[in-house]
Amino acid sequence: MSLVVLWMIGFLIRNRRQRQQANAQLRNSQQQMEHLSRLSILGELAGRLAHELNQPLATIANYARSLMRRQERGNLSAEALEQAAGEIASEAERAAGILNGIRSFARKRARERSARDMADVVREATGLMGSMLSQAPEFAIHDRLGERRGVMIDTLQVQQVLLNLFKNAWDAQQMAGENRPIEVGLNTESDLCCVTVRDHGPGLTPEQQEHLFEPFFTTKPNGLGLGLSICKTIIEAHGGQLHAQAAVPGPGMEFRFFLPCNTENPALQPKTK
Ligand SMILES: Nc1ncnc2c1ncn2[C@@H]1O[C@H](COP(=O)(O)OP(=O)(O)OP(=O)(O)O)[C@@H](O)[C@H]1O
Ligand SMILES: [Mg+2]
Repeated sequence: MSLVVLWMIGFLIRNRRQRQQANAQLRNSQQQMEHLSRLSILGELAGRLAHELNQPLATIANYARSLMRRQERGNLSAEALEQAAGEIASEAERAAGILNGIRSFARKRARERSARDMADVVREATGLMGSMLSQAPEFAIHDRLGERRGVMIDTLQVQQVLLNLFKNAWDAQQMAGENRPIEVGLNTESDLCCVTVRDHGPGLTPEQQEHLFEPFFTTKPNGLGLGLSICKTIIEAHGGQLHAQAAVPGPGMEFRFFLPCNTENPALQPKTK
């Protein structure tokens, strides 16, 4: 083999290694970006989380104080003790449930896909939103998924997309002083599972709509302008698409994303309800 050929082979191998390293770095920074964006959603909502946790903690403190008072007065019956202990345990579990949901949303971890029922994922995301807000928005979920309700997804990433869309919808409705529920539609179009999030906020001008998915485009004083661009990256990495349009009838916006139905491995399809 001539020296030139050997040099060419060496060059190609080095080139391939460099590309692999660059791809790994890109994946790594995308993961870090997603993680930061999850922390940013939590950061914005966390102030209200304290309020939400206050309720079970106050109930626990009340029951404990009432037990002590009864004990001091000597009228603590076995039934009262059992009832109060039961309430204390269930309130503590409620608080732990809220914290667990948030911990698993905030944690850093490798991407992993599993077969999920899309409606369950939506319900978990609305629950998470509710547990973080004192005045959580209401959601009207229209589940028109038929037999094909399964998707193969990284649950945390898709929850991140939903929370971003819900948070934007909520911000928009707050701005318009609107209390109507945020509407979440679920349906299937051929082999695609489709989710729509529709708000009754002020909507956007056509010029603003053009920049919607660009990183750092924001009209909010404390916005990072990263939410939608990350949503788009996540949905496209799942082989899907994310679009936005003015809601009809307006005012408001409708965000719609498609994900491929999980048809490849029917054994992994979640059970239909
Ligand atoms: N439902 C909506 N109604 C009206 N405007 C919206 C809606 N969703 C997004 N926008 C507009 O698009 C911009 C970009 O949204 P994006 O979620 O990417 O960033 P952000 O919400 O400003 O900040 P963050 O990075 O914290 O999410 C918003 O600032 C807002 O102007
Ligand atoms: Mg946002």
